[in-house]
Amino acid sequence: VHEPHLQDSFTSLSVDTESLQRQIEELSTFSDSPAPSVTRVLYSEKDVSARRYIKNLMAHSGLAVKEDAVGNIFGRWDGYEPELAPVSTGSHIDAIPYSGKYDGVIGVLGAIEAINVLKRSGFKPKRSLEVILFTSEEPTRFGISCLGSRLLAGSQELAELLKTTVDGQNISFPDAARFAGYENAKDLSSVFLPKGSYSAFIELHIEQGPILEEEAIPIGVVTAIAAPASIKVDFEGNGGHAGAVLMPMRNDAGLAAAELALAVEKHVLDSGSIDTVGTVGILELHPGAINSIPSKAHLEIDTRDINEARRNNVIEKIHNSALNICKKRNVKLSEFKIVNQDPPALSDDSIVKATESACQELNLSYRKMISRAYHDSLFMARISPMGMIFIPCYKGYSHKPEEFAAPKDIANGVRVLALTLAKLSLS
Ligand code: GLV
Ligand code: MN
Ligand code: MN
Ligand code: MN
Repeated sequence: VHEPHLQDSFTSLSVDTESLQRQIEELSTFSDSPAPSVTRVLYSEKDVSARRYIKNLMAHSGLAVKEDAVGNIFGRWDGYEPELAPVSTGSHIDAIPYSGKYDGVIGVLGAIEAINVLKRSGFKPKRSLEVILFTSEEPTRFGISCLGSRLLAGSQELAELLKTTVDGQNISFPDAARFAGYENAKDLSSVFLPKGSYSAFIELHIEQGPILEEEAIPIGVVTAIAAPASIKVDFEGNGGHAGAVLMPMRNDAGLAAAELALAVEKHVLDSGSIDTVGTVGILELHPGAINSIPSKAHLEIDTRDINEARRNNVIEKIHNSALNICKKRNVKLSEFKIVNQDPPALSDDSIVKATESACQELNLSYRKMISRAYHDSLFMARISPMGMIFIPCYKGYSHKPEEFAAPKDIANGVRVLALTLAKLSLS
């Protein structure tokens, strides 16, 4: 059967690169750290300003804007069969401390531009198209990753947990949400979306790895997202004077933490697979004085794998190490909490195929790949067929100020996204 090329049916798919670049720069100024770094933490003043900026852009593109109780933001372009489940796309704009301008942002600004591209081309969607800005993909403030998409996907457990969750300043989640203008962040079941709410979800994102750049391939079509987990650990000892307490008398919580950090590395390496990774990104000592033996130590551990069982095995070994270290050093394991232990997600074949044919029609080469970073797509996959489009980024850098994606690569990603959305809208 000859399938007419969708692209021929509307004039062209030209991206307004100048406006898009200006928007990326403008958004990056809503930051709590100096340029070129970006720090934009959930429900901070900068986050609120950035949200307003995005809502304005959505409205300017003719989208009908809605927000839910935690501030997931939806901009909808009604299709000519609006009773059909819409096709959605989107990402996040929160940025971890001292990170870059592109992580998440490309999937939000790029999605709005993809809508503009389709509008300019004369395309009329059959299924409605929706751009989503997800609340707090990053775990920075409350230690919970993909908070907005996890809730959208119906996590009852998280809805319950958030009633009592506090940040590092002891501000509760509902209070923080209220500060940002979300008054109803108490009944979070209103955020849940039933399975089937969308016929498809697709996210555009920088690769956050070096493969596309190294291989000079403009597009990555994601087939799976690795399984992430995070763990909080607290050790407690007696502390004391750094001069007066002799070494045999100590039970140093800081050394227990140091030993556990090395154990994490060991267990990850022992998995035998290059796909297993583990990071101790937070290590805090109390009281944090040079002449005081640490009486408390707090660690946060991130571990991931494309193989869930292997990742779980690492978690178990980390737990055993924590227990053994406590025995050996006579410290107390006051907390060992698995914050999340998520399964991996597979992209849906129909979306992978739609993206591949979009690449072919646009004459862009592509390769299939897995995502080692997690994304809101991991959770959208629970309620919708899911897919992701990756674009190259400089040396694979991400989560640091040197993060960069070339305007041309971004434009290619937006075109692929636009054409894929168009295809999915008509299917
Ligand atoms: C989210 O940004 C991640 O750590 O993959
Ligand atoms: Mn990130
Ligand atoms: Mn991201
Ligand atoms: Mn991510």
